[in-house]
Amino acid sequence: MSDHYIHGFSDAERLRLIAQAQMLSTPVFDGLDFSGAQHLLEVGCAVGAELHLLEQRASHLALTGLDLSGRHLQAGRSWLAEHERISLVQGDASSLPFADDSYDIGMTIWLLEHVHDAEGVIRELLRVVKPTGSIILTEVDNHSFGFDPAQPAISAWWDAFNRCQAEIGGGDPYIGSRLRQITEGLGAEVLTEAPRAVISSSDSTRSRADQLHYLRELLESGSERMLTHGYATTEMQRAMATAFDQLRSQPDKAFHYSAVRLICRKPPMH
Ligand SMILES: C[S@@+](CC[C@H](N)C(=O)[O-])C[C@H]1O[C@@H](n2cnc3c(N)ncnc32)[C@H](O)[C@@H]1O
Repeated sequence: MSDHYIHGFSDAERLRLIAQAQMLSTPVFDGLDFSGAQHLLEVGCAVGAELHLLEQRASHLALTGLDLSGRHLQAGRSWLAEHERISLVQGDASSLPFADDSYDIGMTIWLLEHVHDAEGVIRELLRVVKPTGSIILTEVDNHSFGFDPAQPAISAWWDAFNRCQAEIGGGDPYIGSRLRQITEGLGAEVLTEAPRAVISSSDSTRSRADQLHYLRELLESGSERMLTHGYATTEMQRAMATAFDQLRSQPDKAFHYSAVRLICRKPPMH
């Protein structure tokens, strides 16, 4: 997996994930009610950045995170060692090492875009969540990313990023648009499905500079895999970086990136 996962598992990626969780905490967590839940599972937890925020928002929850990456989990375990309500488990999302009906809430956050069988992962989540519980999927639709007016060097990099992610990693960068179809196909009852503004130049609660910095780090996180596997060139990388530099002093250029949050329940007699 390590050669094919677009973001890699470096220390820089660990820090990017922690900063990302903070930057995107509003679109990810606002509006969610954890008051009736006791046990929450996050599948694809990486270094535990979201679990750390969840612990602050809902201190009564017992939190379990599962990830395939031993490196990310090792980093998470040392960072979260003193956090007794958080347990980290190594495993594959498509075959969860948990009993049926064991969690009140099952979550994925930026995971399903990276797996080759999103339906199989959601089926597993439906299996391990209680009939009274729910599944919360917050996932990107990378078609939604863009600038107005368009920034050709950034678009070219983004197209290559998405092709690399899908072809080398085997995921679907546009999975957000398919969540309803997949969950309903599995017989789940969709409770809500809503667009979430991940990044937006019209968002006055977060600074333009911080949002652009976030986007740039996100796009640069694919560099190693994209260059190694021939999806991008260093010229493309330089042009993308120059475009981001110029955007700092161009407040008239708009940008947006959105995700989909779908909440569903398991079907009766699952
Ligand atoms: C973009 S990170 C998301 C991390 C976390 N949800 C967050 O928001 O900080 C995606 C994570 O999914 C994990 N992953 C990819 N495929 C997986 C699989 N089949 N089973 C479990 N984890 C997987 C990767 O190792 C990585 O840590």
